[in-house]
Amino acid sequence: MGPRVGESQPVGEPWPEVRPPVVELEGVSKTYGDVVALAGAGIVVRRGEMLAIVGPSGSGKSTMLNIMGTLDRPSAGTVRVDGHTVDALSDRQLSALRARTIGFVFQAFHLAAGVPALDAVADGLLYSGLPRGERRGLAERALRGVGLGQRLHNEPHQLSGGERQRVAIARAVLGDPPLLLADEPTGALDSHSGEVVMELLRTLHRAGTTVVVITHDRDIAASLPREVRIKDGRIAYDSAAGEAAAAAVTERVGA
Ligand SMILES: Nc1ncnc2c1ncn2[C@@H]1O[C@H](COP(=O)(O)OP(=O)(O)OP(=O)(O)O)[C@@H](O)[C@H]1O
Ligand SMILES: [Mg+2]
Repeated sequence: MGPRVGESQPVGEPWPEVRPPVVELEGVSKTYGDVVALAGAGIVVRRGEMLAIVGPSGSGKSTMLNIMGTLDRPSAGTVRVDGHTVDALSDRQLSALRARTIGFVFQAFHLAAGVPALDAVADGLLYSGLPRGERRGLAERALRGVGLGQRLHNEPHQLSGGERQRVAIARAVLGDPPLLLADEPTGALDSHSGEVVMELLRTLHRAGTTVVVITHDRDIAASLPREVRIKDGRIAYDSAAGEAAAAAVTERVGA
């Protein structure tokens, strides 16, 4: 991970320390009746990172991603998105923050039947105030960006799974949100389509988007710059924390 275009690295300061957080969870818990889905999870995701969240089924991954994305509020703890404490915001303010900051991609694509790709993506800008022609122009550009310039008028049933997921990604990144949250984006895909989708996410990351991916695929998780493991609603391992600890040891040894 290097500096973003137009930024320069202060001498002697590693990037992970200087980039501002885009999402912070502090002691976040979520319970559903008797079920504890999250039990005091804490994590900081900084601008420009790409990380994998892994863990057994039911360990709280989706719950954490939904809370990161402000789709859900925690039962306890603090959530900050782009510096804003979510608790302090009204639903309306929260929707506005979410709309300009976060794009979502889900395993099941969430594309409406019968809606051509171009409209599915352009509809993401329905509340932007932009005229229809402009919305469609931006949508077309986004679809070309994910390699679907030849599929603009195809409906979901006329697209492969991998292509549907690329439509969903085009829709998610249309407003150029700094943060992309993906819940098992390759979970419903064969390995080739999954690799195409992952490569697309890596490309977005290289262009500066912060990308958080839940995955069951160990190879995918291991291939990303940071890996966070969840167990029983807690962060059981964070490779970034490992690096920070290792750096501290190196510093002590070196001193
Ligand atoms: N809306 C809900 N109501 C009740 N219980 C819920 C709800 N959502 C999640 N849970 C429970 O919370 C726990 C964590 O669920 P979560 O969906 O976060 O797991 P996950 O790690 O994403 O699992 P998977 O890998 O299967 O998707 C599970 O025990 C689940 O049954
Ligand atoms: Mg899940």
